[in-house]
Amino acid sequence: MIKGWQKSDWRAKPRVQMPDYPDQAALRAVEAQLSRMPPLVFAGEARRLKADLAKAARGEAFLLQGGDCAESFAEFSADNIRDTFKVMLQMAIVLTWGAKVPVIKVGRVAGQFAKPRSAATETMGGVELPSYRGDIVNGFDFTADARVPDPARMLQAYTQAAASLNLLRAFSTGGYADMHRVQSWIAHFTDGEEATRYRKVADQISDAMDFMAAAGVTSETAHDLGGVDFYTSHEALLLEYEEALCRVDSTTGIPLAGSGHMIWIGDRTRQPDGAHVEFCRGVQNPIGLKCGPSTTAEDLKVLMSRLNPENEPGRLTLIARFGAGKVGEHLPRLIRTVQAEGANVLWSCDPMHGNTIKSASGYKTRPFDSVLREVREFFAIHKAEGTIPGGVHFEMTGQDVTECTGGVRAVSDEDLSSRYHTACDPRLNASQALELAFLVAEELQDRRALRRASGL
Ligand code: PEP
Ligand code: CO
Repeated sequence: MIKGWQKSDWRAKPRVQMPDYPDQAALRAVEAQLSRMPPLVFAGEARRLKADLAKAARGEAFLLQGGDCAESFAEFSADNIRDTFKVMLQMAIVLTWGAKVPVIKVGRVAGQFAKPRSAATETMGGVELPSYRGDIVNGFDFTADARVPDPARMLQAYTQAAASLNLLRAFSTGGYADMHRVQSWIAHFTDGEEATRYRKVADQISDAMDFMAAAGVTSETAHDLGGVDFYTSHEALLLEYEEALCRVDSTTGIPLAGSGHMIWIGDRTRQPDGAHVEFCRGVQNPIGLKCGPSTTAEDLKVLMSRLNPENEPGRLTLIARFGAGKVGEHLPRLIRTVQAEGANVLWSCDPMHGNTIKSASGYKTRPFDSVLREVREFFAIHKAEGTIPGGVHFEMTGQDVTECTGGVRAVSDEDLSSRYHTACDPRLNASQALELAFLVAEELQDRRALRRASGL
């Protein structure tokens, strides 16, 4: 516990990327209402995730974190949640197959509503309006009314998060995620090479399970086969929402961000003396920290000591997001900073946010090849440095969207307009996500071979 820390201390620090609410009385009423609501997650769950992440940092597990760039009120449906959950299960199976270690599943879900933006305003047809900052802040429509920050949106976000989490908990433990259903998780529109590869893995798993059942191991006798642990995460950007859901854990007396199991600090809000770091340092949840090309060794040093003063394993995940072709310039220097400090961190790779471009057709997109390349570079550098690549962080959806170009079912520039649904950044579709999982699985097989060779 950080002595003297108060959940409102961030208010005295410089803040960026947060809205100025014109109606302060309405804001205070919403904050009061939210602070009376039950927390969405419980401290014991956050601690279990932390222990799992500590294993991933040691190479005994692997983190798979993924989901929407921005959850939206309009796209909210049970089908969407189920489909993303299904893709996560498929990817996790493929990764477990490759790495032969447990895969920790963390969704960007049930709270991933607020977005940092590179510009404060947007201009269209000569009209300039405040930028859209995610459904928890203002509306996507390009009208002056929609763009006014409205605190009541926090209540809708909380309700949607609670409903999402309720469904995810049911999917995780209610039979849907039973390993015996491995064949059924493949989406009906996933076809081609990666679907065939997935079915082959699923067949082998089914065979292994038939064998285990014959030996008396079933979902009833081995609980782990009958369900999964699924955790939630989001960027802790809108601090009024985070503060209102912050609770003191009665077991330990330490504050907890009750808004999600894991929260992270974005690349634009990681100022060591800023409001976001101030809030995150006081809560006991696992914390993610995005590291981009502008992260200096000095900042990283200060951030590690501020966010993890006790050097607790599993507390801090460094999410590297440099862009394909830039990993070699930045990752080694940051790995060396971590090593020099003797800091316990989990290294994860976000190959999405450094690879966003504007396509010729005007859409914001990410070439699948760049995504793959950044993942390969991340693994290669950890291999060269003798450190552990412990996780991946993706923006993806279970829907058959056309937002990132490339992949086995080659989405072209011209295809982007056909099913471009994201409320913010372009996501991998179900096929691309699965294809990526196979690539990571291959890299992990390599990691496993290395660990074996070194006698671990
Ligand atoms: C994000 O994860 O959606 C995001 C905005 O990332 P970053 O802070 O790394 O740009
Ligand atoms: Co994003």
